[in-house]
Amino acid sequence: MILVTGSDGQVGYALLKTLAPLGPVKGLTREDGDLSNAEDVAGLLEKFRPRCIVNAAAYTSVDQAESNPDAAHAMNAKLPAQLAAWARANGALLIHYSTDYVYDGSGDQPWAENALTGPLSVYGKTKLAGDQAVLDAGVDAIIFRTSWVYGARGHNFMLTMLRLARERDQLSVVSDQWGTPTPAWLIAEVTAVALRDKLRGAKALDGVYHLTCRGETTWCDFSKAIIGGACDFGVPLSMSSDKVSPIPTADYPAPAPRPLNSRLSVRRVEQALGLELPDWRDALQLTLRDWVEFRNN
Ligand SMILES: NC(=O)c1ccc[n+]([C@@H]2O[C@H](COP(=O)([O-])OP(=O)(O)OC[C@H]3O[C@@H](n4cnc5c(N)ncnc54)[C@H](OP(=O)(O)O)[C@@H]3O)[C@@H](O)[C@H]2O)c1
Repeated sequence: MILVTGSDGQVGYALLKTLAPLGPVKGLTREDGDLSNAEDVAGLLEKFRPRCIVNAAAYTSVDQAESNPDAAHAMNAKLPAQLAAWARANGALLIHYSTDYVYDGSGDQPWAENALTGPLSVYGKTKLAGDQAVLDAGVDAIIFRTSWVYGARGHNFMLTMLRLARERDQLSVVSDQWGTPTPAWLIAEVTAVALRDKLRGAKALDGVYHLTCRGETTWCDFSKAIIGGACDFGVPLSMSSDKVSPIPTADYPAPAPRPLNSRLSVRRVEQALGLELPDWRDALQLTLRDWVEFRNN
């Protein structure tokens, strides 16, 4: 049995389908238990006794984490530590997800997996503590650090931009934060490839891997690509992409500081799994098409 935590979330939901060919998959939602409660977690692990745990649950409200550090710590640091300890003791595999927010966002080059971390926010600090707990547990584990996750369902930047572009006739979007948008479906597909290799005994496959699309952009240009792409698909909007204006981060104050440079090098995951990841623009086209077809049906 493969146990997927956070299976109502963006990545967790996508995993339910992509992992299905690898054996029985059980998704855990809040209805199954509170994963910030160690007793609930222990009970679920003993009930299902998975051979593999894929931990897609997390406290992902970056700004709210600043005022709720204990809640963020419980989900992002304590939960992965408990899952790792159980997996270690029971010979199970663990796949865990992390974030570009573990880096400090300096410079303009893509971060490699062995770069120094330096999280700026509570969210980033708690996620880094989770990564460290998994690495320290001595468990057979893969950590995928991803960025700018979006998709046709859930709460994400693409859906927010599509909503705003129906409600407004112009938008101002931050243009000095660089990174790579990554659809949840791609994360799930690559996870399935990695898990299949692991289940076939690929021992060398472990530790931290960056997992994003290829290429880089800013939130502002991502927003233009979303709105322009939706127009190309014939979606009625109140504005076109040329009505998106760039603004600096300083003009969009938020409780949690964001890294300016979230570029992640994906060379390690491509080499380890024999993949060539798609450019973010191509992945956006596919994701928008899913969303348009979903809306039309
Ligand atoms: N979103 C991004 O842009 C981004 C970027 C980089 C890395 N990541 C990482 O990628 C992974 C997946 O993120 P995502 O975007 O799929 O997150 P998401 O959509 O927010 O999903 C997280 C899931 O965790 C569940 N959850 C949270 N607290 C819980 C609790 N106490 N008990 C039970 N379930 C709980 C949530 O349930 P509810 O829906 O009921 O709250 C939700 O289903 C996470 O590790 C995240 O840190 C995300």
